[in-house]
Amino acid sequence: MPRAGSPLRGPPSDHGKRSYVREMFTAIAPRYDLLNHALSLNMDWLWRRSAVRKLGWEAAPQGAYLDLCAGTLDLAAELARRPGFGGSVVGADFVVPMLQHGRRKASSVYPVAADALSLPFANGSFDGCTVAFGIRNLADVNAGLTEMARVLKPGGRLVVLEFSIPLTWPLRPLYLFYFYFRTILPVIGRTVSKHMTAYSYLPDSVERFPDNEGFAALMQEGGFTHVGVERLTSGVASLYWGEVGDHR
Ligand SMILES: C[S@@+](CC[C@H](N)C(=O)[O-])C[C@H]1O[C@@H](n2cnc3c(N)ncnc32)[C@H](O)[C@@H]1O
Repeated sequence: MPRAGSPLRGPPSDHGKRSYVREMFTAIAPRYDLLNHALSLNMDWLWRRSAVRKLGWEAAPQGAYLDLCAGTLDLAAELARRPGFGGSVVGADFVVPMLQHGRRKASSVYPVAADALSLPFANGSFDGCTVAFGIRNLADVNAGLTEMARVLKPGGRLVVLEFSIPLTWPLRPLYLFYFYFRTILPVIGRTVSKHMTAYSYLPDSVERFPDNEGFAALMQEGGFTHVGVERLTSGVASLYWGEVGDHR
């Protein structure tokens, strides 16, 4: 049985969502990596690599970078381990057990416990920012984007990697995708993680998230220019990027 207040269906209140997301990632942290790689059929590695490529860190290889909603630090470590990268990567997340499970992935990644909606960093602190599979979980996406724009230097780039719905496939693969996403994934996720709702929340939250055009528009409203979108693996995931103008 889902716990009272767990948002299996329908958007929870901002406060409800924030505490649900914290509780859920705290509970699934020990099994997060295993399930992440298995349920994405290991495609999550390729998607994170694409996100790092899109960041354009080569323009400032000694720079300071922020990976927000960093979880177990896979994307932060992917950036820190790029040949030629000599900068620093802060991996920020508000669930400490997630950060703890990733702490051995790269020595040059600095985990920081922080809420994406109220970051403990000065304006213009970072040359670039990434968010992988995290923005969908924010209680207030607009506030999160505004906060990311604030901590980026003028001209700094934000890259967001997020699940999306594959719209362009023919009917049969689309059906198979939904069958996997709605039926198989929640059952495996529930069995392995022992969390009753986390892997039903996943497809629910992906379906509630704006489509490519909608999220690109939110990025522009949040202060980003040169916004672009690329669909990965026929649109199972999407990459978004944009740059910050002079916001002060
Ligand atoms: C699906 S995981 C993604 C983790 C990692 N980026 C990855 O690629 O595997 C989402 C992460 O976002 C974090 N998160 C959600 N809302 C947050 C917030 N308001 N502030 C900081 N972290 C948040 C969760 O704690 C969780 O670790």
